[in-house]
Amino acid sequence: MQNSRRLPPLQNDQRDPANSGNPGEPEVTETDRLLVDRLLEKLRSERQQRARKDRCLSMISHELRTPLASIQLSYDLLAQYSEQATEEERRRHLDNIRQQVATLNEIVSDVVDLSKSTPEELDFSPERRDLLTLCRDILESFELIHHRTHQFHFLSPQKEILAEFDQKLLRRALSNLVGNAVKYSPAGGDIRFGIQRVGQRARITIADQGIGIPADDTDYLFLAFHRGGNVGALPGSGLGLAIAKQAIDLHGGDIQVSSELNMGTTFQITLPLRLSAELLTGSRLLASPTSAKIEA
Ligand SMILES: Nc1ncnc2c1ncn2[C@@H]1O[C@H](COP(=O)(O)OP(=O)(O)OP(=O)(O)O)[C@@H](O)[C@H]1O
Ligand SMILES: [Mg+2]
Repeated sequence: MQNSRRLPPLQNDQRDPANSGNPGEPEVTETDRLLVDRLLEKLRSERQQRARKDRCLSMISHELRTPLASIQLSYDLLAQYSEQATEEERRRHLDNIRQQVATLNEIVSDVVDLSKSTPEELDFSPERRDLLTLCRDILESFELIHHRTHQFHFLSPQKEILAEFDQKLLRRALSNLVGNAVKYSPAGGDIRFGIQRVGQRARITIADQGIGIPADDTDYLFLAFHRGGNVGALPGSGLGLAIAKQAIDLHGGDIQVSSELNMGTTFQITLPLRLSAELLTGSRLLASPTSAKIEA
């Protein structure tokens, strides 16, 4: 940030030559310089934090305004023209209000979840279970709804992959990734969900043949509210990937993306099969011996 250039380090004798020949002026020691550097660094980071918070708040208010405006519009129409409106029109506006309220609820709970950071706050409750089954269930639930427009493929060399994970958090993360694959391939196409065990880790890939992600956006995708420049009218608030990353980080995993514009996108997630004791610290699993479901 402006006005916060780092002071140059002192030479061997630890004295500032500009001060050493000036007995009237107080000496600036290396410790003073380090202190100033540290204060400037703190100031810079506080400013960045404030800027991030401001940006986030303005994004939230922007995201909330769209559904609120839509609710207001439907309400006004119902209030003023209810008698002239047909039964069908009334039903459409009531449906719209219900839908927009659901969207508002979703945004608010996503923002609340993103503000949580510790395993306790996120209610991290890992259990040892079959990750492959969870993945197949998620894909099948999307296939049920979108089988007319997209072809879904589930690929795995294994029949079962036992791992330690929080089912609720991972289901949400992976559902957003499959949901994105569907949403961002409006012309349809193949959606491939692959999972395999590689050593002590599970590797998951979710690939589509959709609109792709502009190169300028890839560095910011996992930041809350960031959306690609090519989304057009496709709905979304840019929170899903931030939440997915938060859940994957909590498991000690990793998420990467590769994409080609108008060709498709692939997300690759790597998860450890066993959670380290460090990751479990603070989770309910260790907090309460009665809930310990992971085998030692
Ligand atoms: N499979 C994909 N293909 C193309 N673009 C994608 C894909 N997945 C994510 N993106 C881009 O990343 C952005 C962030 O995705 P994210 O899931 O966080 O938010 P969203 O889908 O816009 O909204 P929501 O909060 O409802 O998930 C999207 O807006 C889109 O630009
Ligand atoms: Mg999404």
